[in-house]
Amino acid sequence: MERIQSAIEKARKSRAANSHPRVTSKAEPAQVDTPMSRAAARQPDGRKDIWKDVTLFEPRETVLRSHRILAFEPGPDAVPYDMIRTKLLHQMRANKWSRVAITSPTSGSGKTMTCANVAFSIARQTDMFVMLVELDMRRPALAKALGLKDDCQFSRALLGEDEPEKHLRRYGSNLIFAANQNAERHPAELLQGVTAAEVLDELEKKYRPDIMIFDTAPLLANDDTIAFIDQVDCALLIAEAERSTIHELDKCEQDLSARTNVLGVMLNKCRYLSSHEDYGRDYGYL
Ligand SMILES: Nc1ncnc2c1ncn2[C@@H]1O[C@H](COP(=O)(O)OP(=O)(O)OP(=O)(O)O)[C@@H](O)[C@H]1O
Ligand SMILES: [Mg+2]
Repeated sequence: MERIQSAIEKARKSRAANSHPRVTSKAEPAQVDTPMSRAAARQPDGRKDIWKDVTLFEPRETVLRSHRILAFEPGPDAVPYDMIRTKLLHQMRANKWSRVAITSPTSGSGKTMTCANVAFSIARQTDMFVMLVELDMRRPALAKALGLKDDCQFSRALLGEDEPEKHLRRYGSNLIFAANQNAERHPAELLQGVTAAEVLDELEKKYRPDIMIFDTAPLLANDDTIAFIDQVDCALLIAEAERSTIHELDKCEQDLSARTNVLGVMLNKCRYLSSHEDYGRDYGYL
């Protein structure tokens, strides 16, 4: 545990030292932050109408729970994700970032589950518009975790073969999923292709989400995530308790921080919590 703590400390120092602007498919005009632009941002902006056109999907609570997706409603189980949400949004707002990748050194660390929980947690703030985009094309798992059975294959939109809307599903008024039912054969090539970058930029321009969360492949398994990482503003690294090694975390943190802004390392599947880490569990829920 101490070694993971020191990796987290190292990541924090490297974050303080570096800043990586995201690569976009086209140059964007610089946004000037003035009181007037902030007031304009608070006006109703028509996003609700645009989001309403996306096909609605209502996941079953039992399916979500069985995949440990719990943050769709407030309560003790949502607290850890609400805390990540708040820290994430704070850092992203402060830096005017909108795209975050969630990744891990090896497979099975809990990326998909964390992405879904954080997305649901943010979407409980009804003024926030969230897109969760699945980019782990070798082992797509988001549709299954949500119980989504429609013929969704967002990779086809990224290849420019289909309109993105065909593969998008909306939960409530402010959360959109872009998921895949099947694996894709050449994910790294797809993800670093110009078409995929343009499709994502167009999607962001049309729907204007406050945050795009990207569920990615494990960093050490292949080059899929590194191929894409310069298209996000920042990344969150997930460490799996009792499995991720200090060497793996160190390597991933170095690779990520050379290309993007590393928000931090999140320790998942931790069986042993100290009392102060669990103190919110019984605090103030009706
Ligand atoms: N905090 C946790 N406690 C217990 N089990 C967990 C936790 N987080 C994830 N899991 C379980 O671990 C398994 C892997 O989770 P998940 O699919 O989210 O990982 P992943 O990193 O996305 O995997 P992959 O690399 O294959 O995409 C799932 O069965 C999930 O339910
Ligand atoms: Mg996954």
